[in-house]
Amino acid sequence: MTIDLDLAGLSRRSALKGWFAAGSALIGNSILSPVSYASDRTLPATPACGEDIGPTRAMTEGPFYSENPPEKRNFRTDTGGTPVTLLGYVLNAACTPIANAIVDLWHADSDGRYDNQGFNMRGYQRTDGQGRYYFDTIRPAEYAGRTPHYHVKITPPNGRTLTTQLYFPDEPLNELDHLFDSALLMNMHPASDGEIGRFDFVLA
Ligand SMILES: [Fe+2]
Repeated sequence: MTIDLDLAGLSRRSALKGWFAAGSALIGNSILSPVSYASDRTLPATPACGEDIGPTRAMTEGPFYSENPPEKRNFRTDTGGTPVTLLGYVLNAACTPIANAIVDLWHADSDGRYDNQGFNMRGYQRTDGQGRYYFDTIRPAEYAGRTPHYHVKITPPNGRTLTTQLYFPDEPLNELDHLFDSALLMNMHPASDGEIGRFDFVLA
């Protein structure tokens, strides 16, 4: 069985509605792998994250993390830029969604600058009861030596924090960034108000 999750051309609201509806149908049945999503946008009948992808790779925190960020979903009021809705699951190694995991996101603005005095473009969300998270944010710009990227920390309840980074597949600067890892590419889809970036985190 496959479930079509084609988000192209949908508004962000419609896409999110579809995402949550599809997500509800998925749990306990099958989990979308980023690889299959990129290739055909359909869901495999069996979970693929453990077999095909494995735990999400850790990556350096970088020098711009600020402790104690606020709980925040909408970064777009912090700055202008191309809208991106970042969404996905947090899963354990058996591909089971993890509820109430903290997803802490921080990144540069559309000029490649971090807010190191306040909490613009910084905040966390908790996954819902089905292990899903999303943020309304923008596409960050490159800065010295770095291709555009998101920084994230994922902390499951009573578990270890995964610190990593996410990348955009269409960025020519990826190849010039020595930290770039193709395993951390998001699946990007156009939306009427920008883009949807999907990444499912698999914790070890
Ligand atoms: Fe960075």
